[in-house]
Amino acid sequence: MTQDNNPPLAAQQVFGPQAAVYATSKVHIRDDSLESVERMVDAAGGTNRYGWTLDLGTGAGFTAFPVAGVSDRIIASDVTEPMLRQAQRLGRERGIANLDLSQNAAETLPFADESVDLVTSRVSAHHFRDFEKALDETQRVLKPGGSLLMADSIAPEDSAITDWMNDIELRRDFSHIENRKISKIQELLTDRSFTVVENDYPRIYLRFNEWTARTKVSPEETEALHKEFMEAPAATREAFQVAPVHNDIAFSWPCWVFRAVKW
Ligand SMILES: C[S@@+](CC[C@H](N)C(=O)[O-])C[C@H]1O[C@@H](n2cnc3c(N)ncnc32)[C@H](O)[C@@H]1O
Repeated sequence: MTQDNNPPLAAQQVFGPQAAVYATSKVHIRDDSLESVERMVDAAGGTNRYGWTLDLGTGAGFTAFPVAGVSDRIIASDVTEPMLRQAQRLGRERGIANLDLSQNAAETLPFADESVDLVTSRVSAHHFRDFEKALDETQRVLKPGGSLLMADSIAPEDSAITDWMNDIELRRDFSHIENRKISKIQELLTDRSFTVVENDYPRIYLRFNEWTARTKVSPEETEALHKEFMEAPAATREAFQVAPVHNDIAFSWPCWVFRAVKW
């Protein structure tokens, strides 16, 4: 495993102690966004093959594992070392032999220019401290004709609803950086000579109690966040499908899964 010796980031402080919890998180192990990723790489059919794949913000590896099946070699990279240890353990348990690990930030990729065939990233980009730098780096390491396949929560185009979402996310997880509107991401991709060739719009279904427990939100802040959900404006509750269930709240974040080709 290659090492990053920089001082810890907020992401490392949040994800490090909770790595084992993320390794058993149902929504990370399998959800509609992962199914979209698998469909786009044709993980089941196996007609597409990729030489080198790089998975950014790999966490416990749940995206890297199926993509390993269509890659000659896959590098599961993450800034948080305990997460990589979970990916290593689970990868071994699943008998995945072509998985390598690299501890690095998505903003500084220790790989040569035009050396990677496919870059994947799922439910991580909203944590990247500098998303634009991560896109620059992805552009740099991808071969011409290579693909970026990204799945992440996104913000609705309505700015008031977007502000509510980012405020809630930040209070629940201080490593949260930003959920962006699709129009903004699209602009950043175009600026970097990426063309989006495939899209999917799954939702990420969550339960409030488990969601706040995963990042160890204090009881006081949990109560305050509960109130925010229940008292949010109708348009916000509708956008996130907020619904009380038993002693919990069901809600969902919109997600965008896209494959963009570097020309
Ligand atoms: C929700 S988890 C990822 C889930 C995983 N991709 C999956 O499919 O199950 C988010 C991960 O992003 C990582 N992360 C946050 N900021 C990062 C950065 N700037 N560079 C690389 N990884 C980062 C965290 O350490 C964490 O492991």
